[in-house]
Amino acid sequence: MVILTVKKLLGQSHIEEVKSLDRSLKITETVFRDAHQSLWATRMKTEDMMAVAEAIDEVGFHSLEAWGGATFDSCLRFLKEDPWVRLRKLKAVIRKTPLQMLLRGQNILGYRHYPDDVVREFCRRAVDNGIGIIRVFDALNDIRNMEVALKASKSAGAHVQGTVVYTISPVHNIDAYVKLAKELVQLGSDSICIKDMAGLLKPYLAAELITALKKAVPVPIQLHAHYTSGLASMTYLKAIEAGVDVVDTALSALAMGTSQPATESIIAALQDTQYDTGLDLEKLAPINQHFKEVKKNYQNVAGPMEVDTAVLSYQIPGGMISNLRNQLAGQNAAHRYNEVLLELPHVRAELGYPPLVTPTSQMLGTQAVLNVLTEKRYSVVPKEIRDYVKGLYGRPPASIDPEIKKLIIGDEEPVTHRPADDLEPMLDKARKEIIQYYQQEEDVLTYVLFPEVALEFFKTRAK
Ligand code: CO
Repeated sequence: MVILTVKKLLGQSHIEEVKSLDRSLKITETVFRDAHQSLWATRMKTEDMMAVAEAIDEVGFHSLEAWGGATFDSCLRFLKEDPWVRLRKLKAVIRKTPLQMLLRGQNILGYRHYPDDVVREFCRRAVDNGIGIIRVFDALNDIRNMEVALKASKSAGAHVQGTVVYTISPVHNIDAYVKLAKELVQLGSDSICIKDMAGLLKPYLAAELITALKKAVPVPIQLHAHYTSGLASMTYLKAIEAGVDVVDTALSALAMGTSQPATESIIAALQDTQYDTGLDLEKLAPINQHFKEVKKNYQNVAGPMEVDTAVLSYQIPGGMISNLRNQLAGQNAAHRYNEVLLELPHVRAELGYPPLVTPTSQMLGTQAVLNVLTEKRYSVVPKEIRDYVKGLYGRPPASIDPEIKKLIIGDEEPVTHRPADDLEPMLDKARKEIIQYYQQEEDVLTYVLFPEVALEFFKTRAK
């Protein structure tokens, strides 16, 4: 590449000057995590990853997102695989490219808050088993829910990436995102991720946001978007021009729809420009071919790959749409889908505009379904929503509607401290509870996160 040649010709003292010209984009490939979580209900088997693991390692990606998110739960629950064994198998073969994971802050990989001893031990074991980059987010952008995970991951030796969850509401704006990014850097984040799980970030706003972030924080900025609304490739291009350092893409066999923009297209779009990724499309073709071939084995779980512009109106992530449809179908109420879509923005406003991402997307979706089906709003309120209103998930972005609050928790005062401060340590007790199945220290963490599923898995494994 031209820039590299120039670098070689110039003396050491000119290196800094030349670096400012070299704006080559880096890519995180998501095919082993978010792509199949978004399109194949998180069902990709380890053997289908191992078949191309060595080849993927040769491509030169910035990182390979391969663990965390829903994959841990899905491994145990549906695939009857040990997620820790998957990680070790991948790490044994993928030696050059850092393995990356997605962690839900104090929720780890579950759907509620865990005590600090569990969060610390989980981060440490993830790194010990091969994770190099840990992306930490909180559904409410509540920094108190990310602090322990960020610090533990950092002291375990990982590159820690603090996350700003992107959403649209009257209280979410560029200033608020920049403020959060600064706080995340103060807590030790080595880079910042903008997480656009619903594919709502528009191209010109992305340029504004990335420009503001690049000015405000001294660390690399990464953009994670979903293709759901059809905007993501355009958004990436404007973000790249504004100086974003890394973007998340998925190999074309598992791209688009509710997944990420296609890796090959982004590489091709930037060839012979100052943003050239330097990645070789020839190396990707056989890997993508492999996924095209195994795709037929996942047809029974595969979701739609087309663009769904309804998300632009309802601002809900792609995965949530299929969840809502399933929930309604289970109640013989599929015909009430449109009413639920209309109800959801009201619920979200009344509850202080939480971003819709795991676990808030599931919680608010269920409440919207209940509000429609019972025909008396908030007459039935699940425990999770009650806990949310009590402050047990953290601080909502805006205040909760006082009347709705009263309906849900009466005169009880919500907690204002960090929710995990109230939680007793769990590890020692859990270790005793699974003593008859214990094979590795990681089993204790698996059991704490998903007790019933873990026990069932341990029993099968013992046979
Ligand atoms: Co995602």
